[in-house]
Amino acid sequence: MTASPVSSPAPRIRKAVFPVAGLGTRFLPATKTVPKEMLPIVDRPLIQYAVDEAIAAGCDTLIFVTNRYKHAVADYFDKAYELEHRLEKDGKVELLQRVREVLPDGVRAVFVTQPEARGLGHAVLCAKPVVGDEPFAVLLPDDLIWNRNGPGALAQMADVAQQRACSVLAVQQVPRAQTGSYGIVATDAFAERCGRITGIVEKPDPGVAPSTLAVVGRYILDACIFALLETTRPGKGGEIQLTDAIAALLGEQVVNAYHFHGTRFDCGTHIGLIEATIRFALDHEALSDQARAAMTGALAELGIDDGD
Ligand code: G1P
Repeated sequence: MTASPVSSPAPRIRKAVFPVAGLGTRFLPATKTVPKEMLPIVDRPLIQYAVDEAIAAGCDTLIFVTNRYKHAVADYFDKAYELEHRLEKDGKVELLQRVREVLPDGVRAVFVTQPEARGLGHAVLCAKPVVGDEPFAVLLPDDLIWNRNGPGALAQMADVAQQRACSVLAVQQVPRAQTGSYGIVATDAFAERCGRITGIVEKPDPGVAPSTLAVVGRYILDACIFALLETTRPGKGGEIQLTDAIAALLGEQVVNAYHFHGTRFDCGTHIGLIEATIRFALDHEALSDQARAAMTGALAELGIDDGD
């Protein structure tokens, strides 16, 4: 038997980092006691959507970068013995199942602390001891990405990262007036939804933005980003920016921008959270009809023309 000269594929990502140490001041007073990642979209907290997406992409180690005020996130992913016992005793099988699905068997949650709010790049660097030397994902739970009939955004990106053995950033077009809210990339021409990134800049003013292609909160990164983060100096807003370390990574390896299938809701804003809630309610198996009736009723009561 002769061995075929096929090179081994790049490793599949197994670890996902969730930076959740932000203060969530936009949603005060709700976020005075409830972390923004725990705000619900219908019946599940925002963080659960990102966690499910990471698990569906093949991740089995979830690394939450938190601060000392975010006990609720750790509590949520902890096993709730008393609650589960109670539901079991009462025969509430379906509810029990839903509670257990928060963190399926075989998936572990690890919590690391970001002692000071020094920026997204610094938050990712805090995960280094757990990630080690393998490619990993970063998911910003504020960005909820919904791909109704197909694989999640991270699973799509994991395929690209594996096939091309490269780092991958999720991107979407935004209006030029909004470039100041995003990392913006310059790329070569796109083919098969991928374009090689030639430049990246954090939150440029519309007048100087290299394009209108914005990075949304999904990244697959080579572990060498950590060494670059260690030497990244504070940038935009005086914070250590992940974008700046990625700009340095461009000099070392191929980083692709990937135009994902799906709809992104910016749940870091009021309207994004509301939009996601409406969309998930309208698509909810048990709530869809009621949600539609409630919305139609509300529009009629307020005298708003819904365009029908
Ligand atoms: C972060 C990143 C930015 C990226 C954005 C996506 O900004 O720094 O490059 O485009 O997430 O949501 P933030 O929204 O946390 O200020």
